[in-house]
Amino acid sequence: MCGIIGYIGESSAAENLLDGLKNLEYRGYDSAGIALNDNNRLKIFKAAGKLNNLCQIIRTEPRENTVAECGIGHIRWATHGLPNLENAHPHRSADGNLALVHNGIIENYLELRKELSADGYHFTSQTDTEAIVHLIDRELKNGAGFEDAVQNAVRLLDGAFALGIVYRQEPDKLIAVKKNAPLIIGIGQHENFIASDIAALLGKAEKIVRMEDGEIAVIRRGEIKITDFAGKQVMRQPELLQLSAESIDKGGYKHFMLKEIHEQPGIIRALLADGLQIDTGSLRDFNRIEIIACGTSLHAALAAAPLFEDWCRCEVSVQPASEYIYKKQRTGADTLVIGISQSGETADTITALKQAQKSNAQVLVLTNRPDSSIVRYADKVITLQAGIEVSVAATKSYTAQLLRLYQLALALAKDKNFLSSEEISGLHNALRQIPVKIEEILAEEEKIKNVAKKYARFPAMAYIARGQQLPSAMEGALKLKEISYINACAYAAGELKHGPIALLDANMPVAAVLCRQAPTYAKTLSNCEEAKARKAPVIIFSDQIPQGNFDDIVLLPQNCEEFAPLTEAAALQLFAYFIADELGREIDQPRNLAKSVTVE
Ligand code: G6P
Repeated sequence: MCGIIGYIGESSAAENLLDGLKNLEYRGYDSAGIALNDNNRLKIFKAAGKLNNLCQIIRTEPRENTVAECGIGHIRWATHGLPNLENAHPHRSADGNLALVHNGIIENYLELRKELSADGYHFTSQTDTEAIVHLIDRELKNGAGFEDAVQNAVRLLDGAFALGIVYRQEPDKLIAVKKNAPLIIGIGQHENFIASDIAALLGKAEKIVRMEDGEIAVIRRGEIKITDFAGKQVMRQPELLQLSAESIDKGGYKHFMLKEIHEQPGIIRALLADGLQIDTGSLRDFNRIEIIACGTSLHAALAAAPLFEDWCRCEVSVQPASEYIYKKQRTGADTLVIGISQSGETADTITALKQAQKSNAQVLVLTNRPDSSIVRYADKVITLQAGIEVSVAATKSYTAQLLRLYQLALALAKDKNFLSSEEISGLHNALRQIPVKIEEILAEEEKIKNVAKKYARFPAMAYIARGQQLPSAMEGALKLKEISYINACAYAAGELKHGPIALLDANMPVAAVLCRQAPTYAKTLSNCEEAKARKAPVIIFSDQIPQGNFDDIVLLPQNCEEFAPLTEAAALQLFAYFIADELGREIDQPRNLAKSVTVE
């Protein structure tokens, strides 16, 4: 998804840009680059691979080459073109006067490329971005000033773009453009920034200005001028930046992922204390719910869906956002659409919600980032309050999503009068026990680590479960493949015998997730026996020591079937984490992944 940053001020642009990019690295790490605009010299430094490679180049460069007080930077997650140096941003015009960074996708770039090539422009990369640089350059060559050139060029672009642009002839300004991709302006002391995300501004800016789609900002050291694409000036008040730099510190843990796993009991406690903080009364009459999400958020939806069906007697459908967009839906004014997105920037989910809104559905969004793009498409927003999640693999945001969905289902059940007040208070009591139960699991971390180490060298692993535990198995398998690159798949335990069992032998461990209270407990245990009979090593994650001779048991605190996914998540996260750690993987930044996926 790429991250962009820009700086103009009185101190080193290079240092500020690299600091900012460090906090944007979760958005991609295929390549990194900066452009420095110093009186009459526009210098570009790029490196394929992680940001560290770029930092090393800058470190060894003679100091006079990196002196500048204005510049732009980029961190790439490749969409168009290989992740190599050629395709790394910033991209520049042939005369070297203009440099640009881009997050998003230009949908009409092939047409633009053709048109610009006919005009004599030579392309040196496979990116969609390079077309934007040449478009602006063409405007400049036709006599337009910097600001007009940008304005004329961006009107020709289709798609999503957040841009940072510098021009050698005007080193006192930096231009930012936003359409369908996140971008904010940060205001410091005699310095201003642009960034894809607040994380890049922590410890730097004191205030922020949120740009809206279709806006261009001309940013000088002490001045910010925002206009729309037609040139009409827009007035917007800056807001205080509330987050501190400590919120993205590892706090002594080896990885952000481990720190974030450990934060879960505290987050759940706080969510329980605060309550839902929205009025659910107006949602009482909905009998149809569609839940739309991607990745881990989709698993949270799957785990909670049966409770909306059971407690609220709603017809519930859970769909991956990328599928929802292209399927005939019966979403209408009688439907409550719940969109779940940790980042609030996932393009698939945003497009699906836009579509749902057009069908007159009521849209409720669950997100960890109340400042994100998704909230624009929501009638109601529930925040996860999990704090910034830095590790690309989601952990604390997942359990916060589960908790919020449970709270919502309970509130709706109460409004609809389908559960008695005794039942509701019993369920609330059970929820209040969860933080302590997760703490018990975290206290057993060493045991889980020892089990995990035994399974680090297997090439593949199957996860099995039934009913309410199946989404836990799916999430456990997703965590394992994301951070260890072990091929892990989750199967409904009863389906094992209908195909996947052919895969089982002594090289294919099976991780089974069980809850003693579930009516399917005994059946799932039989499936574990079937796996054992095929010589597959079997690891049981359960809140009861099972009968039978299994290879490893991770004993979980006893839990009711409904809320067991919360405790199961913590144990499965640790299991995946310690396998990946044993393999020496780059846990917080797994290959090919990005935390915030802003393309469809
Ligand atoms: C990406 C991330 C996943 C995440 C998914 C949905 O694929 O790598 O970890 O679960 O996006 O993200 P969201 O921010 O919408 O919850």
